Amino acid sequence: MTKYVVTGSTGGLGSQVFKYLLKLVPASDIIVSLHNPAGANAFIKESGAEIRRGDYGDPASLDTAFAGADKLLIVSYPSIAHELRVKHHKNAIDAAKRAGIKHVYYTSLAFASDSVAEVMQAHLDTEKYLKESGLTYTILREGIYSESYPLYFGFWDPKAGEDDVLIPHSDGSIAWVCREDLGEATAKIMVEDGYGNETRLLSGSKTYTLKDVATLASQLLGREVKLIVGTEDAYVRHNLGKNGPRGEEDFLRKWATTYKALERGELDVIDPLLQKILGRELRPFEDTLRESLGVTAGSVFDKYAK
Ligand SMILES: NC(=O)c1ccc[n+]([C@@H]2O[C@H](COP(=O)([O-])OP(=O)(O)OC[C@H]3O[C@@H](n4cnc5c(N)ncnc54)[C@H](OP(=O)(O)O)[C@@H]3O)[C@@H](O)[C@H]2O)c1
Repeated sequence: MTKYVVTGSTGGLGSQVFKYLLKLVPASDIIVSLHNPAGANAFIKESGAEIRRGDYGDPASLDTAFAGADKLLIVSYPSIAHELRVKHHKNAIDAAKRAGIKHVYYTSLAFASDSVAEVMQAHLDTEKYLKESGLTYTILREGIYSESYPLYFGFWDPKAGEDDVLIPHSDGSIAWVCREDLGEATAKIMVEDGYGNETRLLSGSKTYTLKDVATLASQLLGREVKLIVGTEDAYVRHNLGKNGPRGEEDFLRKWATTYKALERGELDVIDPLLQKILGRELRPFEDTLRESLGVTAGSVFDKYAK
């Protein structure tokens, strides 16, 4: 019997991994390690899996959460704060060692190994630490989530009525992929016994530039959504003061490096592995976009999509 411990199950990716893991192994073989157990939804609570508290910021809680498990999924910490993120990931890797975990799966990101994107740097540091840990690992470079397109698409809010979407530096192609496809494949990889000490990319099967996203969004909504590639300063000025970290200059300057990575083609990479693991076509980016915009099938979009 193999015992699994999964983190991040209240989140977008981790919830999908957990859902598919439950289809593959008995619930009694799964431990759900939650940052905040009180936030467990009904699906988790009623699944039959054991719930434990595991906060990346609290190593002692991770010792308890990971105890007795064989395979561990570390879902990366949701932040762009480099040092804190790496510290949290190191805490989880160290705790995995103490707990005698036999195989660690880490959800990294799809940028290049020599990426210029700030958001990738904490992943690269974590990958290095994990590789040097002596643990058996699988680094899964999870593709750019289709659901996360507004982050890349100038923080566009279709309801705000502003349809000029400003990005800095450059547009580029992205092999978008939805979290459900990633979650299903990640669960399957965890249950198989392969991929030991490998770094694998799980990407979408088709790329779309941000200009393509603008075209699709225009067709969906029946009004023009325009992509504008401007200067970094214009991008910062445009977003300063908006809600949350996205309105802060430091965050915006760091996030602007993403577009330098796009210019280098870092996300213009299609790997057939995900489709092979799932044994079916991936969910099209258009479907996620349509859903996020609240546009139903049979709408004006279908006229164009034929
Ligand atoms: N590939 C991409 O395009 C992309 C896009 C965005 C983010 N990401 C990265 O991929 C990860 C998964 O994405 P997602 O969409 O599932 O993110 P998400 O929905 O924000 O979920 C993040 C998960 O991390 C948990 N968490 C937060 N603080 C924690 C802590 N101190 N210790 C342990 N767990 C903690 C959260 O638990 P609570 O619910 O209890 O807070 C939640 O379950 C993100 O965390 C981020 O690093 C990737």
